Amino acid sequence: MPRGSTPLVLPMPGNGDLAGRLARRLSAEVGALSVRRFPDGESYVRLLSNVAGRSVALVCTLDRPDDKLVPLYFLAATARELGAARVGLVAPYLAYMRQDARFQPGEGVTSAQFARLLSSAVDWLVTVDPHLHRVATLAEIYQVPAVAVAAAPAIAAWVRAHVAEPLVVGPDSESEQWVRAVADAAGAPHVVLAKVRRGDRDVEVSVPDVARWRGRTAVLVDDIISTAGTMIEAVGHVRRAGLVDPVCVGVHAVFASDAYSELLAAGAARVVTCDTVLHASNAIALDEPVAAAVRPFLA
Ligand code: R5P
Repeated sequence: MPRGSTPLVLPMPGNGDLAGRLARRLSAEVGALSVRRFPDGESYVRLLSNVAGRSVALVCTLDRPDDKLVPLYFLAATARELGAARVGLVAPYLAYMRQDARFQPGEGVTSAQFARLLSSAVDWLVTVDPHLHRVATLAEIYQVPAVAVAAAPAIAAWVRAHVAEPLVVGPDSESEQWVRAVADAAGAPHVVLAKVRRGDRDVEVSVPDVARWRGRTAVLVDDIISTAGTMIEAVGHVRRAGLVDPVCVGVHAVFASDAYSELLAAGAARVVTCDTVLHASNAIALDEPVAAAVRPFLA
């Protein structure tokens, strides 16, 4: 392939590791860019690689999204202005998906607003297990092609390799989609708990009959661990039901403030996450399925 048409993978700050692994799998070049703040707090961006005529994949996971969004938007616009053939976004964690309805009068439905903003900035999007609940598919809110990579096969492989006699447990009905897929692929039984959320940090779960699974290791699986309130409640319940040393698996290690240490202190024997958000708990790599989803967009 002539050099000018080699696809370019451009990592935003903090995304270099995943970008490097993706570039290797995609035979792409890792490009360079610079992001900083002017003294007045405004964002400065600069592309340091030639993008003209090339397919560009910006890599930027979108936990703590507000500070990332403005430079991301400017970089995508700059790549277009400088002649990139196509500009896509690899956002392994996609923010704002949980505010998918107007729960209180006057609230913003920010999942759709965020989708409109990103859709205006890039030509395609690849993400991992976005929180699809009241919105059933990304196509409902994204105006550009948007692909959701499933983490379940990789999580199931991890469970098979590391947990003997697992019982896969979902902390709430929304988790059933991931929990069933993981359990089926791991050849394990699964149960789903019921959750009532009273506030950002106030969560209660109730348990169907898990005591009959005593002797198995509970593997709690959820898409996002944020305050860890959901996981902490679920850990308490499965332990009280006699399933000791539960393992917690989250796709996205968002972990607000001290959530990680609080979850360990609550009795999780181990906390494991995918590498969509850089964190000490990352143990499940997803660069292979993410690269497979990105490949058609770079052709
Ligand atoms: C929402 O239902 C999600 O699937 C997760 O259960 C939720 O985002 C976890 O949040 P937290 O860790 O704050 O309880």
